[in-house]
Amino acid sequence: MGIAERFIKNPHMSREEYAELLGMEGDASVRELLQTEALHLRERYFGKKVYIRGLIEFTNYCKNDCYYCGIRCGNRNAKRYRLTAEEILECCETGHRLGFRTFVLQGGEDPFFTQERMTDLIGQIKKRYPDCALTLSVGEKSFEEYQAYKDAGADRFLLRHETADESHYRLLHPEKMSLSHRMECLCNLKKIGFQTGAGFMVGSPGQTLETLAEDLLFLDRLKPEMVGIGPFIPHHDTRFADQPAGSVSRTLYLLSVIRILLPSVLLPATTALGTLDPFGREKGLAAGANVVMPNLSPLSHRKEYDLYDNKICTGDEAAECVKCLGRRIHKAGFELVYERGDAPEI
Ligand code: 5AD
Ligand code: FES
Repeated sequence: MGIAERFIKNPHMSREEYAELLGMEGDASVRELLQTEALHLRERYFGKKVYIRGLIEFTNYCKNDCYYCGIRCGNRNAKRYRLTAEEILECCETGHRLGFRTFVLQGGEDPFFTQERMTDLIGQIKKRYPDCALTLSVGEKSFEEYQAYKDAGADRFLLRHETADESHYRLLHPEKMSLSHRMECLCNLKKIGFQTGAGFMVGSPGQTLETLAEDLLFLDRLKPEMVGIGPFIPHHDTRFADQPAGSVSRTLYLLSVIRILLPSVLLPATTALGTLDPFGREKGLAAGANVVMPNLSPLSHRKEYDLYDNKICTGDEAAECVKCLGRRIHKAGFELVYERGDAPEI
């Protein structure tokens, strides 16, 4: 039996086996086998459903300096903004009217948004929209602060681990940050009872089949309810400006692998994937993804949440994106649904 067949039979493998599996990407029959299995599992857990989440990029101030990111604090060219609570609530209002039942508050690690400001905001959103799930994506905080977010009503938390390999982590992040702290945060989020999302970029500088194998081992151990992966895309104001972008086909391969590893996972077809390939998101769904996250941020600031170059949909009203996505998803053979779309209890 080949490595792919063995993986499908029992996806809990060793580092060496994962690296071998990832090395088979060039083999069309392996790609097909994994994709077919991924679609099968996706169908079993979710049918044809694709969940939609409204992304609100509420601040691009960030105290971190991750070397790959366009809004890292060291980028003096980034034009900074933060939305007021009123503006954030207006985004939710627009989203709710369009049918969204999950809001994702994403931002840099902005010290302005203290625990008190965050819990106020969470409380207000959950009071106005009790039928909606609230997801946070605001970086590393203490156990107590995460707990306070949960107590205030937040349901889910996204924190990509970025890479599970220590030396790869060091290549991408300054001394002040650490992989062990990132992992501790993810464990704390799980302990507190958040539906938790981890993830990484595909093709980030220094990534190898071995570091990706570590990522799979980590996902197998953590068992996150959500996994966000998208291709690395160089940003012109970073040290990685001249590095090649990650590969779309490797991203698709990994989406299938992750669907098989964590069959009931919520797995977005990301904006980064749609940025590198005009049909990237459709291809992502066909590889095993089941979530899309269009932007609800005000058009006036859309371009300023500039993580990487050439990001799509920065000039489109949320209503436009919803229509466009609905059409595209239908055409790809799936069905856009507006439910909260919580992680299934397994
Ligand atoms: N290319 C692709 N993704 C990026 N992110 C940050 N910078 C880039 C980039 N240059 C991703 C990180 C982060 C998420 C919000 O965006 O993985 O966790
Ligand atoms: Fe934004 Fe198509 S999804 S314009």
